[in-house]
Amino acid sequence: MSQSNTFYITTPIYYVNDVPHIGHAYTTVAADVLARYRRLRGRDVFFLTGLDEHGQKVQQAAEKAGIDPQTHCDRLAPQFTNLWKRLNISNDAFIRTTEKQHQNVVQRYLQQLYDKQLIYKADYTGWYCTFDERFWTEKDVIDGICPDCKRPIERLSEHNYFFKMGQYQDRLIDHIRNNEDVIRPASRRNEVLGFLQTQKLGDLSISRPKSRLSWGIELPFDKDYVTYVWFDALVNYVSALEYKTGLDRFWPADVHLVGKDILTTHAVYWSTMLMALELPLPKTIFAHGWWTVDGEKMSKSRGNVVDPNAMVDQFGADAFRYFLLREVPFGQDGDFSQAGMVTTINSALANGIGNLLSRTLTMIERSCNGVIPEQGPAVMPELEQRIAELAGQLPGRIEAGYSTLLFRDILLMIEELNSACDEYIDKSAPWKLAKQAEARPQLHTVLNTSARALRLLATLLYPFMPQTAQQMIHQLGLPLDLSQPISDANTGWDAPLAGSRIQKGASLFPRIESKPQGAKPVSDPTTASQPTAAAPTMAPAVPQSSAHAAAAPLATPPPQITIDEFMKVQLKTAKVLAAERVPKSEKLLKLQVSLGSEQRQIVAGIGKKYEPEALVGKTIVIVANLKPAKLMGIESQGMVLAAGDSDVRGLMTLLEDVEPGTKVK
Ligand code: MSP
Repeated sequence: MSQSNTFYITTPIYYVNDVPHIGHAYTTVAADVLARYRRLRGRDVFFLTGLDEHGQKVQQAAEKAGIDPQTHCDRLAPQFTNLWKRLNISNDAFIRTTEKQHQNVVQRYLQQLYDKQLIYKADYTGWYCTFDERFWTEKDVIDGICPDCKRPIERLSEHNYFFKMGQYQDRLIDHIRNNEDVIRPASRRNEVLGFLQTQKLGDLSISRPKSRLSWGIELPFDKDYVTYVWFDALVNYVSALEYKTGLDRFWPADVHLVGKDILTTHAVYWSTMLMALELPLPKTIFAHGWWTVDGEKMSKSRGNVVDPNAMVDQFGADAFRYFLLREVPFGQDGDFSQAGMVTTINSALANGIGNLLSRTLTMIERSCNGVIPEQGPAVMPELEQRIAELAGQLPGRIEAGYSTLLFRDILLMIEELNSACDEYIDKSAPWKLAKQAEARPQLHTVLNTSARALRLLATLLYPFMPQTAQQMIHQLGLPLDLSQPISDANTGWDAPLAGSRIQKGASLFPRIESKPQGAKPVSDPTTASQPTAAAPTMAPAVPQSSAHAAAAPLATPPPQITIDEFMKVQLKTAKVLAAERVPKSEKLLKLQVSLGSEQRQIVAGIGKKYEPEALVGKTIVIVANLKPAKLMGIESQGMVLAAGDSDVRGLMTLLEDVEPGTKVK
């Protein structure tokens, strides 16, 4: 089977019942970091992600949209592929389970198991949850409520086909017991073992009668049934290899990354399916935790779903990627908040790596004509030794971190080197050395050491922040392509670097300051997690001495912008056609406005100041080219301008009655 130099990593394939959210981005970014790291270290990597397009959830979403399921999938798929492009996801293949080749593999496997009498037909009556598409046993169900999603469930009786999963119970227990790595983290492995050792594993219904669900892969041995969506979906991990690159080269998978909620389907259903198909089992299934948002469960009905596109717009792909893996130990649950994100970006990125690069390059530019100098005599032997030691140990420590997917620990190790360099610069004060002619050799040591550390930091940061790392290498003037494997000869601590002409560029991570004051677009000022035009703005990088300081207080006055930047905001007049309150919200009003040639829906946080009826017929000013966002689950296609801060003082209107849709500037 797979050769020793290969590395196969997968994400779950995502349901196309809705647009992607932070949970999808989380797993995919984590997989990308691992894939990039392994490639950088010379492994032959195959990184697979894709979409789970069959089943009840997708069929229902299509019905709701009033279109056929395939059209629905085709419409939603680009939402995922575009997001992966924006997040710089380097997947080698993208599978969609409606692809004919995938369907063929699923049917072939089903037939194989049927021929081996590992699939049989039987009658089944049980408690069925439509939302989760699964039956529950009697003891799981209390008061007719689904133990998972808490929705009412129903009694259902039907003929189905079953996979003889139960017969693999002992073999599966042995497999998990004998291999520490098969399920990670260890706590999750114990959970699965505990469940398998105390409960009898039943057989798995792998079909759905077409009369109930038609959107699926037809069973090859019975035209009246489609395949249960999980049987179809799990097969993607091998079917994609079969028709996209060759099964033997990469199977078994090195890592299946999954969320904690879908660990059982992977650890139990998938493992036993592979046993029955006589295929090797994956080396590791890693279950990560879930994100809450501002302390609450993320859900459409709460209107707090975090849109990764908005995060990229506002903070950039690299900062978002960094935050996702820095905030929470991989495997544990975490809480997302924009405030947390701003703190991390300011302290670890703007004051951290961004500041180190900027201060080092500024000094090389000013004192060494923009050329990295040769190493001179020791200046602060203890600190220099500490940096060299850290640099020597880091690649090994980080390799160990990757083998257990401790992304946060890896980033903390990288930050440790960053801090050691900051301390070294603060204490050796190269700006003072630069003023003394006899101290030039010492100045050179400090700048050479910092540049060396920055090169190492760039290679270590590359998997997390590919664009930033390549930008660092570019600014250091080094001819290195980090998308290719690196070696000690070109990036090791002792690899040559003096003589390189730097190309100082824009600061990597401008500090993020808080809200500007004055007239501001009103969306929902209380929803911190919703990106609004009133959210953080960019300000210049911190001065040298404040590296790693805590986030600074509000900056006044707000930074200036150019006319070009302002012109990006498209302001237009709009006539309010209808207005109503958003249920359960004191602040939000839902407006229907006309822009002349088109009609828009805007959700605005002006409900404390205005009664909806008072607004109908008024001509107001809106931000017309704002990306749509959802507020309390309601789509808002623009923003209303109003004066005031968190308390709205007055809506922006016009002295004259101007045609709706007129440009405002
Ligand atoms: N289609 C199945 C997977 C089949 S894999 C053979 C599926 N899809 S999903 O779109 O519903 O979920 C995909 C992933 O998103 C899961 O790993 C799930 O854990 C993850 N998340 C959903 N909400 C999440 C958070 N709030 N936080 C982190 N991850 C979350 O399940």
